Amino acid sequence: MHYFEYRNGKLFAEDVSVEDLVKEHDTPLYIYSAKTFKRHFEAFDSAFEGIDHLTCYSVKANSNLCILKMLSEMGSGMDIVSGGELFRALKAGVDPQKIVYSGVGKREHEIREALISDILMFNVESRQELEKINQVAVEMNTKARISLRINPDVDPKTHPYISTGLKKNKFGLDIEQALESYKLARDLSGIDPVGIDCHIGSQLTSIEPFIEALNRIKKFHLQLKDLGIEIKYLDLGGGLGITYDEETPPHPVEFGKAIKENLKDLNLTLILEPGRVIAGNAGILVTKVLYTKESPSKNFIIVDAAMNDLLRPSLYGSFHRIECAEQKDGPAKMADVVGPICETGDFLAQDREIREVDQDELLAVFSAGAYGFTMSSQYNSRPRGAEVIVDGDKVTLARRREVYFDLVDLEEQCF
Ligand code: LLP
Repeated sequence: MHYFEYRNGKLFAEDVSVEDLVKEHDTPLYIYSAKTFKRHFEAFDSAFEGIDHLTCYSVKANSNLCILKMLSEMGSGMDIVSGGELFRALKAGVDPQKIVYSGVGKREHEIREALISDILMFNVESRQELEKINQVAVEMNTKARISLRINPDVDPKTHPYISTGLKKNKFGLDIEQALESYKLARDLSGIDPVGIDCHIGSQLTSIEPFIEALNRIKKFHLQLKDLGIEIKYLDLGGGLGITYDEETPPHPVEFGKAIKENLKDLNLTLILEPGRVIAGNAGILVTKVLYTKESPSKNFIIVDAAMNDLLRPSLYGSFHRIECAEQKDGPAKMADVVGPICETGDFLAQDREIREVDQDELLAVFSAGAYGFTMSSQYNSRPRGAEVIVDGDKVTLARRREVYFDLVDLEEQCF
């Protein structure tokens, strides 16, 4: 459920019309709905009521400071994957004791920064990384709380680029080999093994792979107990999918129920790292039609947003629903919605049925709240668009539109 809906034929974000937002903030424009973010967070977090748990929103999905602050004020922790994300989370006022740090390539300075901040734990993805964290912690005369990320070899049945829990993926430690790393972790003076972690992939539309992974982790947990390693946290990562088109992912309540049933008697604090399910349908990208053209084989709608603004269609062939901001009668046509970038792969939709549009009409690209702005770039020297948050009838400019100067600000003037 989200709060982008038509009122008298015009698309509204909560109580503000998209047309009015564009008058003020121009296009391309990311529009987020605060109520939707809050509703999604609450629905997810309350699905785990009754068990000890911590929801750590995955910052990479949408890392705008205002969004992080809003979620943090609702009690959310954060799942981070870089020093930059740590910086953002702290700046947004997140309690470091609610921060978990994943990722295969943590650098020494990033490890140090996380130790200085005293985050809850590192999710460690290799033996060498474990040794590096130990070295840094010993140098700092402290102990790093860690969990090892287990690769449970479960097929999440999602796009190959966003599968992470298969043997062939770069993530985590092979479940067969992980025990050895836990033994090492137990013996290292700068390491305190407090958890087990896994994350098997993103945009999962069924519960079974999660349960399969959980069952493997539970078996592994028993092996750890036999070794005398007592842990406190079980981090199941993120990955719950959303509806972009016709997918029917489980509702968070259903997801929570299934996980809870399989967690009975474990006496561990459950950590979850949802990203997309919180942010995905809480944002749209609004773009303006620049031109239309009909070639003998295709119709093109050329808009002012491009793959630099929303990369998902180009990178994964992802589907994003596209609707006109103003509902009008008119014949529908098949068309490609494309951006101005000089790449054939620059499209927001291909062979999409859409009503005939006029120049300057506004189109809304749905489900753009997660992995939208965070994956944007300035490719083709295109300043990034603005991000606004609507809460009822209140509008906050959460990130100003970039200007040409932002394109060259960090470069040397070699003349
Ligand atoms: N935890 C870890 C360790 C992760 O790697 C991820 C996502 C998450 C949590 C959050 O997963 P979510 O709940 O959002 O599925 N750019 C891709 C998605 C990449 C996901 C990477 N990891 C996309 O646009 O589909």
